This record gives sequence, C-alpha cells and structure tokens, in this order.
Amino acid sequence: MSFDVERVRALYPALDDGYAYLDAAAGTQVPRTVIEAIAGAYRDGIGNLGGAFPASARSEAIVATCRRAVADLVGGVPEGVVLGPNMTTLTYRLANALAAGWEPGDEVVVSRLDHDANVRPWLQAAARRGAVVRWAEVDLATGELPAGQYEGLVGERTRLVAVSAASNVLGTRPDVAAICAAAHAAGALTYVDGVHAAAHGPVDAAALGADFYATSAYKWSGPHVGAVVADPDLLEALRPDKLASSSDLVPERFEQGTAPFADLAGVAAAVDHLAGLDPAAVGPRRERVLASMAAAEAYELELFAVLLAGLEAMDHVTLYGQAKRRTATAYFTVAGRTPREVAEHLAARGVNVWNGHNYAWELTGALAIRDAGSAVRAGLVHYNDRAEVDRLLEGVAELRR
Ligand SMILES: Cc1ncc(COP(=O)(O)O)c(C=O)c1O
Repeated sequence: MSFDVERVRALYPALDDGYAYLDAAAGTQVPRTVIEAIAGAYRDGIGNLGGAFPASARSEAIVATCRRAVADLVGGVPEGVVLGPNMTTLTYRLANALAAGWEPGDEVVVSRLDHDANVRPWLQAAARRGAVVRWAEVDLATGELPAGQYEGLVGERTRLVAVSAASNVLGTRPDVAAICAAAHAAGALTYVDGVHAAAHGPVDAAALGADFYATSAYKWSGPHVGAVVADPDLLEALRPDKLASSSDLVPERFEQGTAPFADLAGVAAAVDHLAGLDPAAVGPRRERVLASMAAAEAYELELFAVLLAGLEAMDHVTLYGQAKRRTATAYFTVAGRTPREVAEHLAARGVNVWNGHNYAWELTGALAIRDAGSAVRAGLVHYNDRAEVDRLLEGVAELRR
C-alpha cells in the first residue's frame, strides 16, 4: 500500500504557510472541499428549519446530509446522530439525561486515561445523584489501560462505563470491545470517547460495543462541530432538558437551539474527504471511509515509527506511553526545559506542537507531571510528512545541553 501524502497535502490550503502542523490532536486543518462546502451553503442561502421557503429546505437537507455522513464515519444510523457544538457540551447533556435515572448507590466507571470531557461530566452527575464512582487505572509505565481490571470494577449496580477509544496524549488505544463487553455483561451502558480515535483509523462503534460514541469533526478535517452516535431506541428512552417549543423527536430532542448549518455542510464534506483519502477505495461511502482510514492509519504509523525512533535516540528526551496499540501521538519532556519552552523553541522553527496537560487531567496528575507543565505533544495525521517529522527531530535535538 502506498499513501500519496503529496496529493493529500495539496488539498489543504493552510499547509502552504510553511509550518509543520504537528498539532492535529488539538484540531486539524481543513481541506478546500470543506471550506467550499461551508462557503457554498452561505452563498446558496440558508434559513432556519421548518420554513415554507427553499432556503429553509436547504438547511434541512444539510442537517440530514450531515447525519448520514457522521453515521457513515462511525458506523451508525442517521437517526441516532446527535449534533452539537462539541463533544464536551454533548457529553454534559447526555450525562445529565442518563443520570436522571440513577439512584443513590448506583455506580459509574471512569478511567484515569481519559480526556477530562469523558470524566468530569460523569463525576459531577454521579455526585448529584449520590452515585459511586469507580476508577479504571492506567499502567503508568506503559500507558496501557488494562481491560482485565473492568471485571472487578463493574457489578450489578453499574449504570455506565465511560472510556476513551484513544488517549489524546499517549495515543493508547484500550481494548474498548473487551471493556464494553464487561460493561454489558453487568447490564451497564457504555459511553466511548472517540474524539481522538476517529481521526486516526476506521471506526465501527457497534463492533466496539459503544452504546454512545462521541466524536468531534474538527479533529478529522472538519469544522468545530461535535456528534454523539447512539441507537435511536436508546435515545428515545432519555428525556434531556429541552424547551417546551422545541422538537421532541429523536435525535432533535438532544439538540439545543439553532444549529450552525453551514458548518454542518462542512462536516459532510469532511467525511467525503476522508472517504477519498485512498483513491483506490470503491463502493458505498461507508466502505470507502473504512478503507481510506485504514490506509491513513498505516501511513501515520509508518511515519510515527520514524518520529518515535528519533525521539527515543535522544537521551535528553523522556517519552510517555508505549502502548501496543496506539495512535501516532507522542508525549515527551526535554531535560532542563519546560514543555512551554520546548513548544516555543519549535514554533520559532516553524513546528506547531502542544504543551501542557491537554485536558488529560487525571493522567498527567497520576504521572506527576502536571504541576511542572506536563509535557509536549506532537501528533501526526494523514497530511503530515517525513520532512515535518525531520524538522521536529532537528528542533528537539538542538535542545540537548
Ligand atoms: C480525546 C478527547 N476527548 C474529548 C475532547 C473534547 O472534545 P471537544 O473539544 O469537542 O469538546 C478532546 C479534545 O481535545 C479529546 O482530544
């Protein structure tokens, strides 16, 4: 398999500024097709939903198209795609709706690996309902989240297990299918954070056993829009807070206020873009997405091997995480420099990386690096290339004392 990264890079206008965008884990750039889809929606004219005129019908079509696209990306049905401003907002919304059915003494399981957006909403909802929180721990030496521990964490009082499909700092991909199977065996629901994972490989939410699968389009070449995908029957059973005058249908019941219609057009264009990453992929969009994301993942991991080997060879660099299954995401510190100083040094050399806890709040606390500024994150995505990785490695090498 060969991945034509030059072809892919040419699709992204922002990459022309000469910077190495190794900050994809915090948000990707967008291809021209996404920019055009958003501009096109505004150019054509859009209106609010339910009107008697064509611009309103165009917005309705955009929403429907967007739901189909997200369903194709993660493997769901359009009627189960809840759209919203971002994953965090949607997770709070779902946590509140789910927790309404919890009794004192019920239990929720969260993980120390997760982004705080898949931790805090559950902790706060549990506190309100008198529910007990159980923690799945990370093996700090490897960055793995051992699935075996879930057998002992779930029980007949467990109502929900929240877990990440991939860590946004260590890249760890836990065995989500095994974790969800343990949750289901105990009769619990599962809420899987796919915000980082969905950008880096094929997703099959049903195969994972995710009752809810959360994702954010800005991590996979789309605009700032979040989505949670679930079985419509499951959504039907929940009663989120909503206006008396807004739709009581599913999934609209979960969507508050007016949607960013033009951005939703961009989300669908982003899924089409992902489906086309491997031009040899054929068939319905769902199949092309799966094939293309597999090709992108293989490419990213090949490039990541170069990045990792380069960093591992530097004795002034400490790397965190060495999970067996991971995304192309490196998290490291440099001796004698704060993570911010490293990021500033690299920025001056035209390399964009992140410094800090990146909201992996519990994990950076457990690693005892949070108070010192946590670490530097360099994350690859399908538009990064070897020259960018080399530039990063040269920049980090310069920091040897
Ligand atoms: C793994 C993970 N989960 C959740 C989030 C939060 O997503 P959003 O910004 O859409 O609220 C992020 C954002 O960085 C993330 O990387």
